Amino acid sequence: MIPELTKSSVSMRDPKRVEQILTSMRNAGSSTLQVISDFDMTLTRFAYNGKRCPTCHNILENSKLISEDCKDKLQNLLDIYYPIEIDSTCSVEEKLPLMVEWWTKAHELLVEQKISKDHLVRAVKESEAMLRDGYKQFFDHLHQMSVPLLIFSAGIGDVLEEVIRQAGVFHPNVKVFSNYMDFDDSGVLRAFKGELIHIYNKREGALLNVEHFKELQSRCNVLLLGDSLGDLNMADGVMDLQNILKIGYLNDKVDERRQSYFDTYDIILEKDETMDVPNAILLYITGQ
Ligand code: TMP
Ligand code: MG
Repeated sequence: MIPELTKSSVSMRDPKRVEQILTSMRNAGSSTLQVISDFDMTLTRFAYNGKRCPTCHNILENSKLISEDCKDKLQNLLDIYYPIEIDSTCSVEEKLPLMVEWWTKAHELLVEQKISKDHLVRAVKESEAMLRDGYKQFFDHLHQMSVPLLIFSAGIGDVLEEVIRQAGVFHPNVKVFSNYMDFDDSGVLRAFKGELIHIYNKREGALLNVEHFKELQSRCNVLLLGDSLGDLNMADGVMDLQNILKIGYLNDKVDERRQSYFDTYDIILEKDETMDVPNAILLYITGQ
């Protein structure tokens, strides 16, 4: 039906069901569609030429805004907690307090650095952050079709916005729900705003966001994009949900994690650095 779904990077637990959902979404039309996507390692590349690409946090970590001592400390945290994030032998319940610990410690370290708001633009410009191949078509098509895109990220909102602004795709149909920096009157980071969003509380975040979803009540069909099992709950606040199609990027530790992704995501994209499949699906659903 969609040639891109036969790519070798694609696998599906139940291709018939995927086909039914796609047909139903296409019949309902683009006015009933909304897209909910994770950011780091979903809209951004996991690797380029064999080298890991940065997350929002890594962009700051690798920048001149942070002291060498702080870089070492953040790197230590990553070395301790990232293996836990992707450990398929460890349950979400076991991981949750450790993820809160990671995010809390990382944010405390960042706040100590007295980061200036004015320097974020340069930090992003000088970073190696890269959106996935085909990102422009993805963002531009959603904009042209007036389909809302909610980016729901446990990264850093200010950094994420700057990445998509510099890529020229921060269109008015894009809304970001993430951890935002709180700057003092002189523009220096003093805290993070609101409730912490980490990798395993996206369900709570989605429920906090019901006002946003209320506005989109007629958008009962959801295309969800994620790269972690925590991303599966990003649409939990959607009202009157009719169909949801969940696309999961499986970037790292693929053999160990394949089964859990297979059980929960409708379409898995394994070591696929492109937006080809989401783009083809969007073209199909919007009748292009
Ligand atoms: P996401 O929800 O947009 O994918 O963002 C979460 C990612 O951020 C997650 O994969 C872990 C990563 N991260 C870092 O790279 N460094 C950090 O210090 C923290 C707290 C998270
Ligand atoms: Mg992610």
